[in-house]
Amino acid sequence: MKNVLITGGAGFIGSHVVRRFVVSYPQYKIFNLDKLTYAGNLQNLVDIENSENYTFLKGDICDADLVSEIFDLHRIDVVIHLAAESHVDRSIRNPNAFVETNVLGTVNLLNTARNAWKGSHNKLFYHISTDEVYGSLGAEGFFTESTPYDPKSPYSASKAASDHFVKAYGNTYKLPFIISNCSNNYGPNHFPEKLIPLAINNIRNGEPIPVYGKGENVRDWLYVEDHAIAIDVIVHKGEIGETYNIGGFNEWKNIDLIRLLCDIMDQELGNSVGTSQELITFVKDRAGHDLRYAIDAMKIKKELGWEPSVTFEEGLRKTVNWYLKNEEWLDNVTSGNYQKYYEQHYG
Ligand code: NAD
Ligand code: TYD
Repeated sequence: MKNVLITGGAGFIGSHVVRRFVVSYPQYKIFNLDKLTYAGNLQNLVDIENSENYTFLKGDICDADLVSEIFDLHRIDVVIHLAAESHVDRSIRNPNAFVETNVLGTVNLLNTARNAWKGSHNKLFYHISTDEVYGSLGAEGFFTESTPYDPKSPYSASKAASDHFVKAYGNTYKLPFIISNCSNNYGPNHFPEKLIPLAINNIRNGEPIPVYGKGENVRDWLYVEDHAIAIDVIVHKGEIGETYNIGGFNEWKNIDLIRLLCDIMDQELGNSVGTSQELITFVKDRAGHDLRYAIDAMKIKKELGWEPSVTFEEGLRKTVNWYLKNEEWLDNVTSGNYQKYYEQHYG
C-alpha cells in the first residue's frame, strides 16, 4: 500500500504517468496535484477520473499550506514531481514564471517532504527533469549522468536549479530522492506549442509550419508512454540518491523530422505526397538555440533493464492518428475551452 502524490498530472507527460499508476497499481492511492495552467487539461484523464484509487486536487505546488495539508491528510509516501513550466520559448518571454514554479515550487515540495518524513523509512521524492540541464552538444558526443550541468535557456536554468536543490536536500537533510533527466517526448496530449503537435495542428489547418533557423538543430525523441514506463521502473527499482538519463536513441534534425511528419500526415489525410511539405516555412531562429541534445541511456538499460519499446515511425504514426481522432481536443486547447471541462465537472 502506497500513497503516491503526482504533481503536474494533468499535463502532457503527467497524464500518461497518472494513467499508468492508476491502472497498474490498484493497491496504491494516487493523488494528482495540478494548478491547471494553460498546459493542464483534465480531458487528458477522463477515462480514469472515476477510478477508486484516484483523486484530483487542484492547487499550486508553491502553496506551502496546501502542500503540507495534502501530506498530513493523505500520508504521502512517494512524490513523483512533474509540475513545471515546460516550454523554452515561453521561458525566453517570461523567465519569472519558471523561477516561481520550477525552482520555488520544487523547494516548497522538498521542505514539506522533509518535515513530513522526518524519521520515517521507505519514502521517495522522485524529481522528473530534462536533458536540457546539460546544455548543448556539438556534432559528436552524448550526455551521460556525469556530464557537468551547463544550462543555456531560462527553462533549463530553472530545471538545473531545481535538480541542484533536490540533490542538496539529499546531501544535507538525507531526503531520499531520485532524479531522471529525459530527452524530448512526443505523443498524445502534447500541447500544440511544441514542435511535433504544433506541426500536426498547422498541417491540419493548412497553416505554415515554422522551422527555426535552418532546421539543423538535433533532438533525441522518445514516445511519451516509454517515458511513463521508465518512471514506473525507476519508482520501483531505482536506487535512492541516483540519477538516470532516459532517452530514445533516436536523434533527428528538425527539418528531417518535419519532412517525415509531413509525409505521414499526407498518407493519413489521403493527400498526394509532398502537399504538406509545401507548408514548411523557415523563420527567425530561437535566441540562444541549443544545437544538439543526445542522451546516453545505457545506465538505465544496464541497471534497471529499461529501453524504448516504440520505434519513431510507429510512435509518430500513433501520434498523428491520435490528433486526427481528437480534433475536438485540439480545438479546445487552442481556444482555451478545455478550462470549461474543469468548471463543469469539479465546480
Ligand atoms: P506540461 O507543460 O505539459 O505540463 C505541466 C503540468 O504542470 C500542467 O498540467 C500544469 O497545469 C502543471 N503545473 C504548472 N505549474 C504548476 C504549479 N505551480 N502547481 C501545480 N501544477 C502546475 O509539461 P510536460 O511536457 O508534461 O513536462 C512534465 C515534466 O517533465 C516537467 O517537469 C518537464 O520539465 C519534464 N520533462 C519534459 C520533457 C518533454 O519533452 N516534454 C522532457 C523531459 C522532461
Ligand atoms: P520544442 O518542441 O519547443 O522542444 P525543446 O525546445 O524543449 O527541444 O522544440 C523542439 C525543436 O524544434 C527545437 O530545436 C526548436 C524547434 N522548433 C521549431 O523549429 N519550430 C517551432 O515552432 C518550435 C515550437 C520548435
